[in-house]
Amino acid sequence: MHLHRTLLTLLPTLLLTSAQTPANPILDAITSISAHTTTLNTTISTWTGSPLTLLAITAQSGSLLESIYGGTHAASRAANLTLDQTLAVASATITLATDVNQTITTIIGAKKKFDRLIVADPVVLLNLKLERDAARDFADRVVEKVPVDLQGVAKGLTQGIDDSFAEGLAAYEVL
Ligand SMILES: *[C@@H]1O[C@H](CO)[C@@H](O)[C@H](O)[C@H]1NC(C)=O
Ligand SMILES: *[C@@H]1O[C@H](CO)[C@@H](O)[C@H](O)[C@H]1NC(C)=O
Ligand SMILES: *[C@@H]1O[C@H](CO)[C@@H](O)[C@H](O)[C@H]1NC(C)=O
Repeated sequence: MHLHRTLLTLLPTLLLTSAQTPANPILDAITSISAHTTTLNTTISTWTGSPLTLLAITAQSGSLLESIYGGTHAASRAANLTLDQTLAVASATITLATDVNQTITTIIGAKKKFDRLIVADPVVLLNLKLERDAARDFADRVVEKVPVDLQGVAKGLTQGIDDSFAEGLAAYEVL
């Protein structure tokens, strides 16, 4: 009974606390981009080489690109990040960099399968280019929202993602 009353007293406080948790649209965007990246990775890594799957790969690659554009839009409109938010964003960026590394490694590994389908290589190359450009814009918008004295560190974290794209492009530019 006593406990019950204590919980009832606490409840409004708990609800208020969760309602006041500041939104972090940049973190949400990175989480979404990571999810789209992993989906694409799964499809390409389990791909048998069937031309039909190429449609799914193209569609998922398009969704990934859209999620990056959406992130850039969200980051442009977002308020400056607090220190807590910056730490959460940094941690998500490290995860994203790993996901991008593994996905581009998968894409490079699948090159022989893409090679067999006449138009596939230029499509992969174009998508990698579009995604790299989009990722650069997104990273620039995010870094702007990071506290000034941490912007250098933030740039360093996003550089790994750009390096992964460079490796992917190098593999597909040899046509
Ligand atoms: C956000 O941070 C930038 C520095 O990166 C600063 O120039 C700007 O005034 C800040 N904006 C707000 C609304 O505090
Ligand atoms: C990408 O696929 C490879 C091969 O299946 C797997 O080892 C790796 O964990 C996957 N990474 C992500 C981020 O999905
Ligand atoms: C992935 O990371 C490993 C270890 O840092 C690196 O050797 C490799 O070149 C990277 N590959 C891509 C595609 O980013």
